[in-house]
Amino acid sequence: MGADFVVVANRLPVNKQVAADGTVTWTRAPGGLVTALAPIFDSQPGAWVGWTGSADSSDDPHVDGIDIHAVPLSAREVEDYYEGFANSTLWPLYHDVLVKPEYRADWWDVYVEVNRRFAEAASAAAAPGAAVWVQDYQLQLVPAMLRELRPDLKIGFFLHIPFPPFELFSQLPWRREILEGLLGADLIGFHLPGGAQNFLTLSRRLLGAETSDAPVGVRSDFGTVRFGDRTVRVGAFPISIDSAGVAEQAAAAPVIQRAEEIREQLGNPKTLLLGVDRLDYTKGIDVRIQSLERLFADGRLDPADTVLVQLASPSRENVESYAVLRDTVERTVAHINGTYGTVASPPVRYLLQPVPRDELLAYFVAADVALVTPLRDGMNLVTKEYIASHPDLDGALVLSEFTGAAMELDAAYVMNPYDPASTDDAVIAAVTDDDAERRRRMAILRDQVMNNDVDQWARSFLDTLTEE
Ligand code: ADP
Ligand code: F6P
Repeated sequence: MGADFVVVANRLPVNKQVAADGTVTWTRAPGGLVTALAPIFDSQPGAWVGWTGSADSSDDPHVDGIDIHAVPLSAREVEDYYEGFANSTLWPLYHDVLVKPEYRADWWDVYVEVNRRFAEAASAAAAPGAAVWVQDYQLQLVPAMLRELRPDLKIGFFLHIPFPPFELFSQLPWRREILEGLLGADLIGFHLPGGAQNFLTLSRRLLGAETSDAPVGVRSDFGTVRFGDRTVRVGAFPISIDSAGVAEQAAAAPVIQRAEEIREQLGNPKTLLLGVDRLDYTKGIDVRIQSLERLFADGRLDPADTVLVQLASPSRENVESYAVLRDTVERTVAHINGTYGTVASPPVRYLLQPVPRDELLAYFVAADVALVTPLRDGMNLVTKEYIASHPDLDGALVLSEFTGAAMELDAAYVMNPYDPASTDDAVIAAVTDDDAERRRRMAILRDQVMNNDVDQWARSFLDTLTEE
C-alpha cells in the first residue's frame, strides 16, 4: 500500500540496543529531524528510508510509528559513497574548500549506484501521490531518479549544509549531473537565501535553464527554475530546534543541579567557556583554542580563573582530514595545558566522546559563554540549543559570521574566525561586558529561537511542497 509521507535520509532515526542475552531492541533516535517530523508521523502513516550506519548489516530495525526501510551498504560502498564522494568530495567542496576535495570517478560511480538504491527503496515505500522528502548532500541524485520511477509523487529536497557559489561548485566534474539530480524535485530548500540564489545562478549558467530574477526571501518569495516542461521552486527555510522542549529539559531540577556540580568539579572558575561540536575541520575548534592561548599570553584572560570545556564528538574517523584535525586539536590542547595549567587545574578540558543529552544540557546551563566559531557551517544547532538553555538570560554567545545561524542571530558577539583580533575581541567582550548588556543581547537571541522552532521549519517546507 505504501505511506503518504516518506523521508529519505542517509541515516535512519534509530538506536540499537543489545541486551546481555543478545536481544536486540530499537528505539527512535532523538535527532533534530525526527523530533521535527514526529507530529507528522504521529498523525499519518509515514516511512523513513535510510542506512543503519554499519557496513554489511542485515539489521532490520522496527520502531513505533515509523515504517522503517533500511538501505544496506557494503563496506566498499561505505568507503566510496559515504567516506569518499559524500565526505571527501562534496563536504569540503560545499564548505569553502577548507580542505582540498578529491575528485575520483570510481567514487562518483558508487555515489550514483547508492543514490539509485535509495530512490528504488523510496519508490517502493511511497503510496500513490505521496509526499517524499529527500534530505541532504549524500542523496542529491535521488530526486531525479525517483521522479523517473514515480512521476506521481510530490518530491521535496532539503540541503542541510551550505550550497556554494558558482566559482567553487564549478570545480566538480559532475556538476551538471548533480544539478539535474536536484531538479527532479518540485521544491528545493536551503537554509539561507544565499544558497538558493547560488542554485539559481548555477542552473542558469551551467544548464542554460530559465530562472527567476527576484531575490529569494526567508520562507517566502521562492525562486523558480524552468527545467524541461516543469517549474521547480527554490526557497530558504532556516532549520531550528525543538526550542520549547530544550528549554523545558534544561530547566529541569536534575539538570540545574548537575550544572552546579559541573562548575564545582571544575573548581568554580570565574569564567566557564564551552565548545560543543562534532570533531570536524569546519567547526573552527582550533580557532577558539588558539584564541584562548593568545588571550592567556596577552594577559587578557587569567588561566587561574578561566576554564574552556570542549566537548567533541568523534566523526568520520576513517577520513584522513578528520584524523589530521584531531592531531592538531589534541596537540594544541596539550600545549596550552602544559604552558598555562597546573597539575590540579588545566585550563582546557577536552572530551572526545558523545555526551548524553541531559549531561550536554547541564553543560549548556553551566557555561558563561558558548564559543561557536566555525569557518563555515550550514546553520549550527548548538547555537540555538545554548540559547534555549538560558531562560534567565544569563550566558553569552560568541558566534562566527560564517554560520547560517549568524543571519538570524546577529545580537550575538559576532566574530570573523579568519581574523584573530576579531575573535579575541568578541571573546573578551562576551566575558567582560556588564550583566545588562549580556542580558540585552540574550533577550533578543531568545526571542528569535523561541519563536522560530523546528516545527515551523518542517511545516513551512511541507506546506509549500504540497500546496497546489
Ligand atoms: P552538525 O549537524 O554539523 O553536526 P549542528 O550544530 O547543527 O552540527 O548539530 C550537532 C548536533 O549534535 C547538536 O544537536 C549537538 O547538541 C549534538 N552534539 C554535538 N557534539 C556533541 C557531543 N560531543 N555530545 C553530544 N551531542 C553533541
Ligand atoms: O549536518 C550535516 C550532516 O551530514 C547531517 O546530515 C548529519 O546528521 C550530521 O552532519 C552528522 O554526519 P554523519 O551522518 O556523517 O555522522
